[in-house]
Amino acid sequence: MTRLSLTAIVLAISAVTLAQAQGPECSGSIKPISQGDLEAIKNCKVFTGSILIDATQEAFLTLNGVEEITGDLIVQSSVDLKSFSAPQLKVVRGELKLQNHTILERADLPALVEAKGLTLAILPGLQIIQFPSGLNKVESVRIEDTRAPAVTGLGPETMDTFILTNNNYMRQFDLSTVKQMTGTLFITSNGQGLDFGATNLATLRSATFRNLAQLNLPVLTTVAADISFHQNEFTKLSLDGLEMIGGTMTLANNDRLTETSFKSLFKIGGALSIGNNTQLKAIDGFSKLSEVDGTIDLAGAFDLYAMPAIQDIRGGMRLQTSSSVFPC
Ligand SMILES: *[C@@H]1O[C@H](CO)[C@@H](O)[C@H](O)[C@H]1NC(C)=O
Ligand SMILES: *[C@@H]1O[C@H](CO)[C@@H](O)[C@H](O)[C@H]1NC(C)=O
Repeated sequence: MTRLSLTAIVLAISAVTLAQAQGPECSGSIKPISQGDLEAIKNCKVFTGSILIDATQEAFLTLNGVEEITGDLIVQSSVDLKSFSAPQLKVVRGELKLQNHTILERADLPALVEAKGLTLAILPGLQIIQFPSGLNKVESVRIEDTRAPAVTGLGPETMDTFILTNNNYMRQFDLSTVKQMTGTLFITSNGQGLDFGATNLATLRSATFRNLAQLNLPVLTTVAADISFHQNEFTKLSLDGLEMIGGTMTLANNDRLTETSFKSLFKIGGALSIGNNTQLKAIDGFSKLSEVDGTIDLAGAFDLYAMPAIQDIRGGMRLQTSSSVFPC
């Protein structure tokens, strides 16, 4: 009897503790603005709802205690915030966005392993982007306009969308863990020197590559929709594993390009457009290409083109070369 009531008391105490841990402050749609406002939710291991921190005037903000947010966490539009940290935050079921902070230097997310979407954008002072616990489950990622030279700890196997743009100090990026993308890969304007690779990526929906020094997609097999390459600095473009493009392929204004190699490509569901690649003297490397459902449009200063396997060009062919040695 004594024992029983003791157990009952212990149970009663834990129930009270639990109720405190998940009290009324732990849910809803809240707009904290100060460190004091954030301290009010520090006992919420799970926050049910969304948190918007807009235009805070604090220099340092720490989201203590919270391990999971069932909605979004958005921290945006401050000219004063230097450092944001969420030391225990593991999961954001919605969007995690840090955006539009003039002087933000640090974003510490040491425990983060999952978010539906991650946006780090318009953060011209942010130099380090890292996910020490491994951000291994994330559908879409956008990293735009930061000072970071690299990103470490991003490790999903499948993704929808990945956008990397206007990061002027980014020199090298390997999206090495990703095998499949159901959406878009958009890599543009990261200075002139980005060496980009997705070394295990086999399928994606669409892609745009602009201003790259190197591109390495050694096992890419299928592009469901469009793929384009504009104003890149590389001399050779090899996509020898690529078999099928569902939409259009565009290769334009790549001023140093001298060689293309698409050894396995047999079908393009849209158009093939190759134009204004000033150093490209031969359009070849398409030894298996037999079907193009749109137009083949080739323009430039090439002396030679070779598509030995071509049988079916539904949209017709347009050839324009300024070369004087072209044999036709
Ligand atoms: C960015 O933040 C500044 C400062 O708070 C604000 O005035 C501006 O409207 C914000 N811009 C966007 C696009 O949210
Ligand atoms: C061809 O390339 C040059 C140099 O990059 C550029 O100035 C021009 O606008 C391009 N032409 C077209 C039609 O894209």
